[in-house]
Amino acid sequence: MDKLQGKVAVITGGSSGIGLSAAKLFVAEGAYVFITGRRQKELDEAVRAIGRNVTGIRGDVANLDDLDRLYENVNATGRRIDIVFANAGIAEFAALGNITEAHFDKLFNTNVKGVLFTVQKALPLLNDGGSIILTGSVASAKGTPAFWVYGATKAAIRNFVRGWTVELKDRRIRSNVLSPGPIDTPIIGQQPQDSIAKVLSTIPMGRMGEADEVAKAALFLASDDSSFVTGIELFVDGGQSADLTVNNIRVDTAKRDEAGVDERGKCRIRNQLPVFAAAYPTVSSQATPPRDGGAYGHRFYWLGCHGTAHGAQSGPRRHATHCLESLR
Ligand SMILES: NC(=O)c1ccc[n+]([C@@H]2O[C@H](COP(=O)([O-])OP(=O)(O)OC[C@H]3O[C@@H](n4cnc5c(N)ncnc54)[C@H](OP(=O)(O)O)[C@@H]3O)[C@@H](O)[C@H]2O)c1
Repeated sequence: MDKLQGKVAVITGGSSGIGLSAAKLFVAEGAYVFITGRRQKELDEAVRAIGRNVTGIRGDVANLDDLDRLYENVNATGRRIDIVFANAGIAEFAALGNITEAHFDKLFNTNVKGVLFTVQKALPLLNDGGSIILTGSVASAKGTPAFWVYGATKAAIRNFVRGWTVELKDRRIRSNVLSPGPIDTPIIGQQPQDSIAKVLSTIPMGRMGEADEVAKAALFLASDDSSFVTGIELFVDGGQSADLTVNNIRVDTAKRDEAGVDERGKCRIRNQLPVFAAAYPTVSSQATPPRDGGAYGHRFYWLGCHGTAHGAQSGPRRHATHCLESLR
């Protein structure tokens, strides 16, 4: 319970989702945290939820004056910083034909410019031996239709940490990217649910992640547990970045409804995500029904709903198979 005893962390976007979970965990592990966000009400609620050893400072990471004010406030408390978690970010879908300058600027201003200056402006207060963590995304490594401007913002910051690892080595400051797959936070609810269902169908672990699962990885990168880890991108994505076989699965809305699968790709009957195996021979030999298909010519088989052991009750399995076959 004391992995961050006496440490000070700045967490941008700490008023919600992943940032809020990380703030709670860091405080539980002995840290003092400064959290940020643009909305005062959400920030105040987050401060109350964290309960102790926390200060909320409202600000937009894309606004350099707000960032100056953030660090002036930290400095005014007499504290220095050990961990910068540049986590604030936004996501938006737009296909090539619909992309506007405003869409591009909004994503790059928050997710790239905001991250860069969050870190640059922290440097005078950042202790030698500190840890910089940026929130990336599995989207940086996948080609996802209509999501690649967002993916490009996250790919850009991967290069930041590679450069900073060398630039900041004399100060023993480590820089890493933490890249979640789909995580159940408010940002997901703001996206087109068909697109989310499509993305979810490509996760080998068959479910969305939880914010506290990402927070635990952030704790690893923030603490001495990762003392020899720098310049990396750590995926917390249920295997999504490793899977290459199912990118071309199409989720047709009408078929989805007919199949009894909800907008997040969950089986309506069991309220669980479908599980599939992609080109895993040992598992697929137990699955029904074998069928060729998918990108790259791999054979993949639907196994059933999450939590339903393949080979177990045939009813749910048959239903899930029907759902998933219909999704293809
Ligand atoms: N959830 C996922 O599936 C997922 C997957 C991969 C990567 N990520 C990344 O994880 C990070 C956190 O997202 P989340 O899922 O936790 O979403 P979230 O619950 O919506 O939280 C986003 C946080 O960032 C803040 N924020 C957004 N824009 C800001 C700005 N310009 N300046 C300051 N604060 C800003 C938000 O507060 P205000 O709105 O009040 O400013 C909020 O505190 C993002 O970088 C996101 O791209 C999320």
